[in-house]
Amino acid sequence: MIVLGVETSCDESAVAIYDSQKGLIAQELYSQIPLHSIYGGVVPELASRDHIRQTLPLIQAVLKKAQLTPESINGVAYTKGPGLVGALLVGATIARSLGWAWQVPTVGIHHLEAHLMAVMLEENKPPTPFVALLVSGGHTQLLAVEAPGCYRLLGETLDDAVGEAFDKTAKLLGLGYPGGPALSKLAEQGNPHRFHFPRPMISHPDLNFSFSGLKTFAANCYQANQDDPNIAADIASAFQLAVVDTLWIKCRRALRQMDCRRLVVVGGVGANRQLREHLQKEMQSIQGEVFYPRPEFCTDNGAMVAYTGYLHLKNGEQDSLSIEVKPRWDLTEKEF
Ligand code: KG4
Ligand code: ZN
Repeated sequence: MIVLGVETSCDESAVAIYDSQKGLIAQELYSQIPLHSIYGGVVPELASRDHIRQTLPLIQAVLKKAQLTPESINGVAYTKGPGLVGALLVGATIARSLGWAWQVPTVGIHHLEAHLMAVMLEENKPPTPFVALLVSGGHTQLLAVEAPGCYRLLGETLDDAVGEAFDKTAKLLGLGYPGGPALSKLAEQGNPHRFHFPRPMISHPDLNFSFSGLKTFAANCYQANQDDPNIAADIASAFQLAVVDTLWIKCRRALRQMDCRRLVVVGGVGANRQLREHLQKEMQSIQGEVFYPRPEFCTDNGAMVAYTGYLHLKNGEQDSLSIEVKPRWDLTEKEF
């Protein structure tokens, strides 16, 4: 089965073709970062308009790259939610219309499930069951994954998502948008021990998180030391260490609770080098294993949508002809 996947939930237009025999055969991504960066964050209306401009040419480009004509496509998948409503509608409309024109089944995908399934595109795939840490710009969740499609929420953030905390702290330090990669780069030059950031919620026995206090702590440190040339790097470094420590403490608790030694880390912040290295070391020390998608499949991409679409389509699922998106959508209410 050959599936075309379309992702337009936020600020990346991304498409890919997954072939169940050959694996991923083509992908293209257009990032809107330059478009939004002057505003310091995503402007939803500009995002939708740019998806309209980019998505069809990207689809033409992947077909060309894969040396396929539309007749070879057996199914179409698109991100149905969660995400920005206007941005989602562009991908849903294009994908649903192409599916209708090509007379192939079309299926709407949950964006977080696609992030989770991205790890299955790697050679080193995790056997189920496993604990998953999903850390993106909009979500921070710990999930028990019994099998693909069988997700149980163990804990989640009560306020900011980790990616959001990275972005807000980066903004405060005068770094560009999106702040996560920039903050992480700056952190390499800083002293992580100059400030001791709190490790939020670690004394709570549950598996929930709270990250909004970290940016307030960062703001206070910054205001008190504005003339110091190293201040931004030192804050970035201590902030990142606090995030990584806190995530590991809760992951370890979830693994113990589930009596499991397999951890899967997905979503944009999963590309963070310090987080990857720290979890690798800690999981080794408990004779466990951590699995990641490659960094470019941690952030939004079309490959994860095409692959997740394949999983659903091979089960015989397909959408009706109506075009529907779900800007808010709980992963655990989704049936596979
Ligand atoms: O998964 P994603 O591409 O989009 C959402 O579904 O939200 O995640 C984007 C988030 C942004 O907040 C971005 O700053 C963060 O992931 N991010 C990072 C890194 N790369 C992306 N955060 C920390 N370190 C990184 N290397
Ligand atoms: Zn995402």
